[in-house]
Order: sequence, then C-alpha cells, then structure tokens
Amino acid sequence: MARRSWEEHYEDAGDDVHYGGYAEVRRVRRKSDGRVFALKVGFERSEEQKERNRREHRILDRLAAAAADQKQANALLLPVDACKEGLWMVLPWAGESLRAYSRTRKHTGAWKPIDQREVLDLLDNCAQGLGLAHEHGIVHRDVSWQNVLRISDRPGVRWIVCDWGVALDREIALPPMTRVAVGTDGFVSPQQQHDAHDAKAADDVFGLGRVAYYALSGRRLDTGAPGLSGDLGRLGTLVRAMVEPDRKHRIQSMTTVRARARKLRGGA
Ligand SMILES: Nc1ncnc2c1ncn2[C@@H]1O[C@H](COP(=O)(O)OP(=O)(O)O)[C@@H](O)[C@H]1O
Ligand SMILES: [Mg+2]
Repeated sequence: MARRSWEEHYEDAGDDVHYGGYAEVRRVRRKSDGRVFALKVGFERSEEQKERNRREHRILDRLAAAAADQKQANALLLPVDACKEGLWMVLPWAGESLRAYSRTRKHTGAWKPIDQREVLDLLDNCAQGLGLAHEHGIVHRDVSWQNVLRISDRPGVRWIVCDWGVALDREIALPPMTRVAVGTDGFVSPQQQHDAHDAKAADDVFGLGRVAYYALSGRRLDTGAPGLSGDLGRLGTLVRAMVEPDRKHRIQSMTTVRARARKLRGGA
C-alpha cells in the first residue's frame, strides 16, 4: 500500500539504491516535471523500526518549522513530500555519503584523503544544521560517516547531516527507543554509549569530530580510543578539542565549532 501511494507521483530513476539500518533510499523522478529526488521508505519489520520512522517524520516537521523561522533551510535536508502515515518521504537528492565519497573505487574500497579546506566546509555546514537542531532541544545522536551527505547540485558543494531517526527531542515526549545503544561504532561518544537518554549537544560535537578525523585520515577509531594519531595539519587543535573524551572538557556547542572552522578557513 505504501508503495502504491508514492508511485502515483514518482517513478524509479535507476538502480541507485542505498540501504541504511532502517530504510531503503532510492533515486526517483517526479512524474510532473522529471526532477530527481531521494525516496526514503522506512522498514516496518518491527515496532522499533516503526517507532524510528515516526520519530524521524515528527522531528523533521519540527526542524522544518525551525528552519523557516531562521531562513536556514539550506543547512538541513528537509522532505519535499511525505506520506501521512509516516511510511515514506521524498527528500532532495543529495549525491553521496562521506563514506561513499571517500572511496576512490567502489569495489576495492580504497580510501582517498579529503583536503583540509573541504573538511572545514564539512564542519562549517554540518555544524550549522546541527546547531539549529540543538537550539530547539534536538540532539541527533548518530552523526557518522554514512549520515553526512555531500550535495553538489548548486554552485559549490554543501555537506548535510541526514537521518534523524534516533534523535532525542526534549520538547516532544517521544517514546524511548527500545534499543539501549544508539549511535554508530567509532562515532558515538563515551557518554552517549553509556547512557543514550542523556545525550547532549556535546555528544554530537564528538560525532562530528570523529567524522572530520575520518575524512582527514581514513581511520575509524573505537569509541574508547585515547586520542587521535597522526598529523592533522591546521585542523589538529580543533578536531582534538571536538573528540576530547571527557565531555566537560570538550567543545560544547556547534556555534563554537562553526566559528573556529570559519576562522581556520579564512586563514587558508
Ligand atoms: N537525500 C539523499 N540523497 C542521496 N542519498 C541519500 C539521501 N538520504 C540518504 N541517502 C543514502 O541512503 C543511506 C541511508 O539513509 P539514512 O537516512 O541514513 O537511513 P537509515 O535510517 O536507514 O540509516 C545514507 O547513508 C545515504 O547513503
Ligand atoms: Mg543512516
């Protein structure tokens, strides 16, 4: 039934299908004007999956309202269409994830470094969207290499955090996730790994810091790894301050991340 309802207005645009843990995302074309979009259809196999789909739809509604207030819609990937029952949504097509972008060849999976200037753009852009969510009491909780997308559909390139399915929203009482662990290995902070219900903005700062570290080095560390290795050039101090294991001593807000990324970029 869900399938039939999107097929009224969209058709498959090829074989570009991605599977996340909770949804299938495919490229579709809108029948009325031929424009390409991403269709996200949530899996509905368990109560947990259904809950996650509903959560993502509600949180995106809240983010759309927040972005409209502040004219920051470019910093977020907001649905252009969705089914009322929360089974599918249509999003702007956003190219590829950081994980896919950082591989030179799909088959060998060889990693290619991402240059420092582009990583500063990634930090600036993603911190803008996450910062807007934080101002409204929403913590993403799964900032990772697969949930950071690179869009190049307009002059220049934008990086955007997608996938709000496990976000924590302090202003609307959402049922707690049944699964205790929330987040992706290598990107989740020690505090969130210990207690996902108490996630804070600083836990998203940690995830974004680990994303930047991966982009610069090709390495994914365990959550508990003591520190970052290697020369991260002029981004070293910023990225290390984002992934500080002690949450109290970590950079606390996306506003700070953004300001520091911009300052470093300005000096390029
Ligand atoms: N708007 C989009 N445009 C292009 N690809 C996307 C888009 N949204 C998601 N994807 C791809 O689909 C994958 C799964 O989407 P995601 O929203 O993270 O679902 P899940 O909740 O299953 O993790 C992403 O990692 C990305 O590769
Ligand atoms: Mg995902």
